[in-house]
Amino acid sequence: MKVTVVGAGNVGATVANVLAAKNVCSEIVLLDIVEGFAEGKAMDIMQTAHMLNFDTKVKGATSPVDAPDYSATADSDVIVITSGIPRKPGMTREELIGVNAKIVKGVVDQSLKHSPNAIFIIISNPMDAMTYLTLKDSKLPRNRVIGQGGMLDSSRFRYYITEALNKAGFSATETDVDGMVIGGHSDTTMVPLVSLATYRGIPIKELLNDDQIKEAVEATKVGGATLTKLLKTSAWYAPGAAAAAMVEAIALDSKKLMPCCVALEGEYGESDLCIGVPVVLGKNGMEKIVEYKLPADEKAKFDESVKAARNTNSKLGDALK
Ligand code: 2OP
Repeated sequence: MKVTVVGAGNVGATVANVLAAKNVCSEIVLLDIVEGFAEGKAMDIMQTAHMLNFDTKVKGATSPVDAPDYSATADSDVIVITSGIPRKPGMTREELIGVNAKIVKGVVDQSLKHSPNAIFIIISNPMDAMTYLTLKDSKLPRNRVIGQGGMLDSSRFRYYITEALNKAGFSATETDVDGMVIGGHSDTTMVPLVSLATYRGIPIKELLNDDQIKEAVEATKVGGATLTKLLKTSAWYAPGAAAAAMVEAIALDSKKLMPCCVALEGEYGESDLCIGVPVVLGKNGMEKIVEYKLPADEKAKFDESVKAARNTNSKLGDALK
């Protein structure tokens, strides 16, 4: 399995680092527009190989903006796109659309020339719109275009549920807690599924009151913005680890169920849209969408999220041509 990670910034380097440590790929190519940067990151990651006990070869390559060179990425099985500008404190992900649409489109076109059979994982924001753009631009079948958002948001949901449980007197850890977030990767409209959230199998509704649950849900929704405020740029450890988990599921053909952004063709009553839903990931990428009958209140929130995602897609304008 050869994986390319486009963009050697914080998120891209973390994807390469976490993925290398999993030891499930033969080669990871880290590509960046800044001369020598990806090479340096790759060398640094390779020098952890002995300590972290992996055999994956991580290589860096430069692809200048004015003379793109994706030859090092040739024949990749998976391409992870992290390119584009991250948000600054106070910005929404949606505000990045103009700049990032042009960048992502260029990356997709170049990548496809060298790796026509690759599965694409999109991290660049606004992620749901960038996934839709990749699908339309590449004309690939939908199983090969997958956005990373749901795994990250679900992990944040578990984190905030764990905090709430511990404030309420339990002694929980994140791995004791189950929770899934679907819908768009958006501060206002993502949908943490309270109905499915459990602590060691017990629904959190039995253990936390409405205010405690609301606090965890709202903190989850603005989880990215909270970190952006603290870090002065967007987060990288959890976004990178989330994408690495998705690549691992594809590399191992594990058929794991993960919330991911994919194109709907009638599922959940929607089509011509990429949004977060539970999917099965395996060697073919998105192998199945799991249709889950949402309770009425969560279905209403999902519908709002769909509306917001369609509105963001409408701003893709010329990038879609
Ligand atoms: C986040 O939520 C960067 O969108 C990413 O942290």
